[in-house]
Amino acid sequence: MRIIAFVTQKGGSGKSTLASCVAVAAHQAGERVFVIDMDNLGSLVKWSKARKAKDIPVEAVPAGKLRQVLAALEKQGFTLVVIDTPGAEEGAVTAAARNADLCIVPARPNAFDLWGSEKTRAAIRALGRDYAFLLNQCPPAQQSARVEMGAAALEAMGGLLTPLVSARVDYQEAARLGRGVTECAPHGVAAEEMRALWASIKRRLNRGAAKKAPAKAATRTAAKPAGKTGAKARAA
Ligand SMILES: Nc1ncnc2c1ncn2[C@@H]1O[C@H](COP(=O)(O)OP(=O)(O)O)[C@@H](O)[C@H]1O
Ligand SMILES: [Mg+2]
Repeated sequence: MRIIAFVTQKGGSGKSTLASCVAVAAHQAGERVFVIDMDNLGSLVKWSKARKAKDIPVEAVPAGKLRQVLAALEKQGFTLVVIDTPGAEEGAVTAAARNADLCIVPARPNAFDLWGSEKTRAAIRALGRDYAFLLNQCPPAQQSARVEMGAAALEAMGGLLTPLVSARVDYQEAARLGRGVTECAPHGVAAEEMRALWASIKRRLNRGAAKKAPAKAATRTAAKPAGKTGAKARAA
């Protein structure tokens, strides 16, 4: 079972929107997905009520119970847990990050989000967890200088997931209906972005697992000089 957490101290950058759409895309790709909503606002609990279908269970879980709930989910055979976190409540964010295989930090291409991302990155690094950034709500003509600068800044901070996610009404409409964009408008650009995003998250998770697993391989290569650890090496 793999665990991804959408985290950033900056509100409104798209944690809940992306968590729900990625959960649906992963479900459609064959994962057994469980969503944990750690935000008191309960965005994804409400999303689930609007969804009605019980195919992707959503539960509000407080920080103190997270580990216990994750252990139970693993026993039940879920293959992916998607955690949505609040912007500001440190206990929940720390618990989510500590338990996640990958922390995904969404940011919009503006200065306040990018500065907020630096703070979030410092908090995740202090916990020793893996993370990747995600640029969200990019103007649909993606090549604007602002988007390029945002992408470069996040890349330099430690790796940017592909693709860049555009600002589209489809995302808002899907949330309102308790669905993912891959369900509401499966042939649209947003749906394509979410399928590609799930593929890129999955690659990143597999790479993380491969790094952790072969202890023997690690000893074998220990004599070699350490590889590059810069932005390029980390980019997903
Ligand atoms: N890619 C996107 N395109 C259009 N609107 C978006 C997109 N991502 C998020 N939004 C909108 O931005 C607002 C904040 O998103 P939300 O997911 O609630 O952020 P967070 O959970 O980080 O506070 C919501 O109104 C949401 O509909
Ligand atoms: Mg939210």
